[in-house]
Amino acid sequence: MPVPSAFALTWPPEAYLWFKTLHIVGVVVWFAGLFYLVRLFIYHREATELEPPLRQAFEDQYALMERRLANIITTPGMVVAVGCAVGLLSVNPAWLQQGWMHAKLGFVLALLAYHAFCYRLMGRLRQGSCQWSGRQLRALNELPTLLLLIVVMLVVFKNQFPTGAATWLIVALVVFMAASIQFYARWRRLRTEGDAAAAAG
Ligand code: HEM
Repeated sequence: MPVPSAFALTWPPEAYLWFKTLHIVGVVVWFAGLFYLVRLFIYHREATELEPPLRQAFEDQYALMERRLANIITTPGMVVAVGCAVGLLSVNPAWLQQGWMHAKLGFVLALLAYHAFCYRLMGRLRQGSCQWSGRQLRALNELPTLLLLIVVMLVVFKNQFPTGAATWLIVALVVFMAASIQFYARWRRLRTEGDAAAAAG
């Protein structure tokens, strides 16, 4: 049933471009927050291996930094990105009939679930009941990179999503970078443990 014109929203001509500008700014802020938040979780988790007085001070500091980052940067970024996305769709509802948008919304739901999961991990870290190791958290931190790549590709290529050699090359590059970060962290940890053992005699 068509919406009666008296109730239909009328937007000024430049509204779409404003929503898109703020949508992109919101997405950048949201992702900066998500990436740094899980990095703080890694430091927080590794601080549990320190000696008691130092450990308490570091844990309190990381808990404070995480809470501020999540509440002052990450969640507001998410609200701006999603709020302006709703604005974009209300100016041009036809996007909702396209396949790429359905796929994008599916991946955005996964991202929102990741965001909520980060809050859960933050609570567990604060209570000292987080079971995730630093290594697992590092692996978790690769997930938003993958979601970012897929969502940006969907919005740029739309219904012409590429599946050729260039796509696989980029996917391989992302996997290679993620694996390199894991290997480097492991190598650094082994070296630190080796130095500590050598110093102990
Ligand atoms: C609530 C979920 C979201 C909806 C409904 C949504 C919807 C839209 C729409 C309608 C556009 C304009 C497309 C165009 O004019 O060509 C757009 C642009 C864009 N979106 Fe989203 N979006 C959402 C979340 C996201 C997320 C999570 C990201 C990043 C991971 C993202 C990244 C982008 C980018 C980079 C553009 C600009 C693309 C361009 O101008 O070529 N969006 N979005």
